[in-house]
Amino acid sequence: MKEKEHVLLIGKGTYLVQVGYGKLNTEFGIFDLSELLKKDYGDKIKTHFGEEFVAVKPSLLDILLKQAKRLPQIVTTKDASLILAYTGISPDSLIVDAGAGSGFLSIFLAYYCEQGKVVTYEKKSNFAKVVRENIELTGLKNITVKEKDITKGIDEKNVDLITLDMENAESVVENSYKVLKPGGWLVVYSPYIEQVIAVRKELDKFNFTLIKTVENITREWRTSYHTLPEVSGVMHTGWLTFARKVF
Ligand SMILES: C[S@@+](CC[C@H](N)C(=O)[O-])C[C@H]1O[C@@H](n2cnc3c(N)ncnc32)[C@H](O)[C@@H]1O
Repeated sequence: MKEKEHVLLIGKGTYLVQVGYGKLNTEFGIFDLSELLKKDYGDKIKTHFGEEFVAVKPSLLDILLKQAKRLPQIVTTKDASLILAYTGISPDSLIVDAGAGSGFLSIFLAYYCEQGKVVTYEKKSNFAKVVRENIELTGLKNITVKEKDITKGIDEKNVDLITLDMENAESVVENSYKVLKPGGWLVVYSPYIEQVIAVRKELDKFNFTLIKTVENITREWRTSYHTLPEVSGVMHTGWLTFARKVF
């Protein structure tokens, strides 16, 4: 493995590290990261206590969740994945996203639409800078960050999917309708129900079909000793409103 390459060490815990000359102190002992220079993915590495870990190639989520910076609230993977599942967009899609925030949703979509392109709008330049840094971590080349207020207009045409996660998303519905291709999707992520109501009211003014709002609730179960649902955790993220342009 090459110096500075990202590697995930999996054993009793998981650690995202960079191949190099430093040491990593963990509850299972100390890793000498220079040892990784002589190893390949799939090889084992031991801490100074003799605990064995395997070095594997990190996934997009390992990098996003363990290393990317977070500024405002992100769209979590359970909600982001539902956008792909419900729209069924193809990997070569043109996607417009706003606001970029920390870039989590745009990076997620760009990864699964690698032959396509994501253009993400962000009106705050300090947020746009962090999004660019997060994109750099992932190595993705198909995302453009536009430092622009999307309510002032959308530059792209014939768009397959528009995702909105921002205040006053209803003010972007009309322009979204204009630039979507027939059959293209608008998806709005709203943490508050008042936002959903405002968006649904606006959607009714245009020729959209298959309009629906869903909440994706996931609940973990614990299975040690007794089996029962977890009683705490993230109980609410937001609603997703889907709408498909007719013509
Ligand atoms: C909740 S965050 C988005 C998080 C993002 N979806 C993610 O997964 O990381 C909302 C972002 O929208 C940006 N924003 C709000 N109104 C905007 C507008 N009119 N044009 C562009 N960006 C806007 C805010 O600056 C903020 O960064």
